[in-house]
Amino acid sequence: MVLGLVALALVAAACAPNATQSALEPKGPYAQKSFDLFVPVFWVAVAIFVIVEGLLVLFVFRYRHRRNQTPRIPAQVHGNTRLEIAWTILPTLILAGVAVPTIATIWDLAAKPTGDVLEVNVLGHQWWWEFDYPGQQILTANELHIPTGRPVYLTLCAVGFGYGTPVPSQGGPPAPNECQTGPPDGQPPAGIGAAVIHSFWVPELAGTQDVVPDLTNHLTIQADEPGVYTGQCKEFCGLSHAYMKFRVVAHTPEDFDRWVAEQKAPASPDVSGPAEAGKQIFLQTCIACHAVAGLETANGQPVLANGGPNLTHLMSRECFRGCTLEVNEENLRRWVADPRSIEAGSFMPDYALSADEVDQVVAFLMTLE
Ligand code: CUA
Repeated sequence: MVLGLVALALVAAACAPNATQSALEPKGPYAQKSFDLFVPVFWVAVAIFVIVEGLLVLFVFRYRHRRNQTPRIPAQVHGNTRLEIAWTILPTLILAGVAVPTIATIWDLAAKPTGDVLEVNVLGHQWWWEFDYPGQQILTANELHIPTGRPVYLTLCAVGFGYGTPVPSQGGPPAPNECQTGPPDGQPPAGIGAAVIHSFWVPELAGTQDVVPDLTNHLTIQADEPGVYTGQCKEFCGLSHAYMKFRVVAHTPEDFDRWVAEQKAPASPDVSGPAEAGKQIFLQTCIACHAVAGLETANGQPVLANGGPNLTHLMSRECFRGCTLEVNEENLRRWVADPRSIEAGSFMPDYALSADEVDQVVAFLMTLE
């Protein structure tokens, strides 16, 4: 009875509506390669499991002590050279057989794709992902937009290791394919959440890749069909690790080009009413971390990102706060009013804005289309 209930609970735990994060349903060639390796290795493991456990169960029942049997010590056997050679060689052959396609796949997936490749630099922050498109001069957060049918070569860097402000898409030094090494002379890395390991994972599009301070890691992803593919950070990275999600939005190549053009356009600086008041508050507080392209400070400097997500086209995104909140007026108000009630350990300061000021800031954010 108990065993049955445990089995039922295990089976039920595998059920979920709209479960998109499954590596067993690859939606692109790179995920497919991992899956194609997983399937034969899985069945080899199943065969070994069935044989070993089957023999174990068979022997337990076949040679168990029976009630009317007189107790006796079975024949004591020590050593059997032939058996020992067999059970050394057989696993070696099986593992060697599994190693050949495994290593081939590892090399295949690690190779930089050639041809028409989109390059995106991915930065792991506490607790959100930043996406920097050096070739397109776009900086965005939480949503990685990609074209279908084209390999996307990601360079994954941890913040605080030379890859900071300004980033390449904001006129900083180019860093494609190479995260910079740590600060010299044993200095601590700069920036919020520096020196923290994250791991980037979109199960339907590729395997996982760690984001490690002082290391340059790469991952290639590709989607066959337009759609939204959900991902999340897979390495414990602090209090809000569980809320470090993201989305990969795959467009047809034409739609992707349209998205790029929209993202490159600066935000309109002309606002009025409460939004104008909100813009002034934004320029006094929020720009300490957040960028808005097209916005200038009081002394005419562009507003660049400095640790917080770029908000230039915030309203074009569907999610924010590590992709755990839908972008809408109510959520923005909750977030601006009290970030720490939503995100444990949030690095977003609480500026203790009045209810009116929160409304004004949100009115301004709502203009960032
Ligand atoms: Cu980032 Cu867990």
